[in-house]
Amino acid sequence: MVINRSVIRGVGAYLPKKVMTNHDLAKLVDTTDEWIVARSGIRQRHIAADGENTSDLAIAAAHQALVRAKIDPVDIDLVICATATPDRTFPATAVRVQAGLGVTKGAAFDIQAVCSGFVYALTTADNFLKTGQFRRALVIGAETFSRILDWEDRSTCVLFGDGAGAVVLEAEPQHGEREDRGILATRIRSDGRYEDLLYVDGGPSSTKTVGHLRMNGREVFRHAVQKISGVIEETLVATGFAADEIDLFVPHQANQRILNGIAKKLGVAPEKIVITLDNHGNTSAASIPLALNHAFEEHLIKEGSLVLMEAMGGGFTWGAVLARW
Ligand code: ACO
Repeated sequence: MVINRSVIRGVGAYLPKKVMTNHDLAKLVDTTDEWIVARSGIRQRHIAADGENTSDLAIAAAHQALVRAKIDPVDIDLVICATATPDRTFPATAVRVQAGLGVTKGAAFDIQAVCSGFVYALTTADNFLKTGQFRRALVIGAETFSRILDWEDRSTCVLFGDGAGAVVLEAEPQHGEREDRGILATRIRSDGRYEDLLYVDGGPSSTKTVGHLRMNGREVFRHAVQKISGVIEETLVATGFAADEIDLFVPHQANQRILNGIAKKLGVAPEKIVITLDNHGNTSAASIPLALNHAFEEHLIKEGSLVLMEAMGGGFTWGAVLARW
């Protein structure tokens, strides 16, 4: 059976130049490097410069992905930007990225699923490519979380950072088998009953302000391991793969302890997990493509690698994608 698969042709990333270490943070709030490393695994984060917007980060990451894919921007017909920190309330950051890159056909829109945004965006692009409506997609995760943090709240400001990552997807006819290249399965979920555990306390319609991130960290932690493990298991069952057949586990980079818990529950070998959160903290929708980019640059990922991605974020939203590179 011939079917269209969304094959990943290129990956790119961008981190702002300014680095803020845990020691820098300890000068702002009552915290220590030891506490942050022990509770989260994070050592530093990157912070966007004044005037550097989410779309600037996104354009830099997307440009690198396009160059590596050897695909011209004029041949892209879908741009999806996953972000919870758009440049403006409207238009979508994706259309600013579209214009900045010189993409002139097709459609561009944002997806708002917070830390699960990249998984949601990949799922959406994959469905458009599979049906044949679009042929080449840019899928970006880009965030400037430094703009929505309460820099006096030590329980949240130590965990997040800014950054962007992108992949170029191209539809390619495959055989409909588990050996195919491209995206093999996607699963997305949400449950709005958990909004109060992780949210931003502002918005154009409610307060006419941007607001700050608020989180009940202990409760988020409790749900994360259970919900993410569940959706990964569903993805594996749908494709008939066992956890030990995964070549590379590329999770949302929220917290080292969450990743350890998931790996233990699923029986994923620690050396197969890509970890980048020590360098950039939790960059929300940008964290999976940043980790993919790291895996690519470090030659951990090669053509044929079976790659499992997963994320959970505010909402709650969560999901997983299984792809062969
Ligand atoms: N430095 C020093 N002490 C701190 C800090 C800090 N930055 N922040 C909180 N504390 C203190 C608290 O005040 C508390 O003190 P008390 O015992 O005197 O009251 C103590 O440390 C313990 O606080 P807890 O919140 O219970 O600490 P916990 O072990 O739960 O760790 C953390 C907190 C790291 C936020 C953890 O709950 C966590 O990782 N949760 C997951 C959150 C997450 O990753 N969210 C990302 C978005 S969702 C996602 O991406 C999956």
